Amino acid sequence: MAEQKATNVHWHEGDITREHRQKLLGHKGATLWFTGLSGSGKSTVAVALEGVLNEMGVLAYRLDGDNVRLGINKNLGFSAEDRTENIRRIGEVAKLFVDSGVIALSSFISPYAADRDQVRALHEEAGMDFIEVFVDCSLEAAESRDPKGLYKKARAGEIKNFTGIDDPYEAPGKPEVHLRSDQQSLEEEVDEILALLKARGIVSAGL
Ligand code: ADX
Repeated sequence: MAEQKATNVHWHEGDITREHRQKLLGHKGATLWFTGLSGSGKSTVAVALEGVLNEMGVLAYRLDGDNVRLGINKNLGFSAEDRTENIRRIGEVAKLFVDSGVIALSSFISPYAADRDQVRALHEEAGMDFIEVFVDCSLEAAESRDPKGLYKKARAGEIKNFTGIDDPYEAPGKPEVHLRSDQQSLEEEVDEILALLKARGIVSAGL
């Protein structure tokens, strides 16, 4: 848990609530937290889902590991401490998106269960939906895809602490959605998530 450094700071309530924004947009905000190995297809599923939601008139926004590490988290690397801070910051950013009424699609390896659970707790304390989506894929399949050529570099010792090679990945014990990206089609994966969003009343079942 990050320590609160600033003192004498207080949350300032506005007049417009989360419920007002929900009414304005016609759906609830929520965080979909995609976790899995590099190359497992997290971003691919998030991009496809964002497209389908957009067509349905549902506002979603992707927070993606590589993108975020080029901006807000450009000062973080891949040590255990930096990965934890990466996830903590994005958890807070996702929570702001949910408060604004948007569906945040967060795709990060997020290899440590404790870090993901911390983000879950943060959402649940605030009465927000947090849906963990495990994009499960064998290391062999992810490595054979190797879309960025990083596994090859990690095997050659050119990248240290690469998840799945010489750094751990802790699979979720009880994810809300468990996809098998090396066995399911992209369409099946998107449909599974959509069904849950409807069942939970995050988006209208009629859409
Ligand atoms: S996380 O572990 O902190 O959640 P994040 O999802 O933000 O990782 O970033 C992972 C992406 O960074 C990978 O998809 C890959 O493109 C790149 N990357 C570079 N070095 C590493 C590394 N050592 N381990 C994992 N991914 C790395």
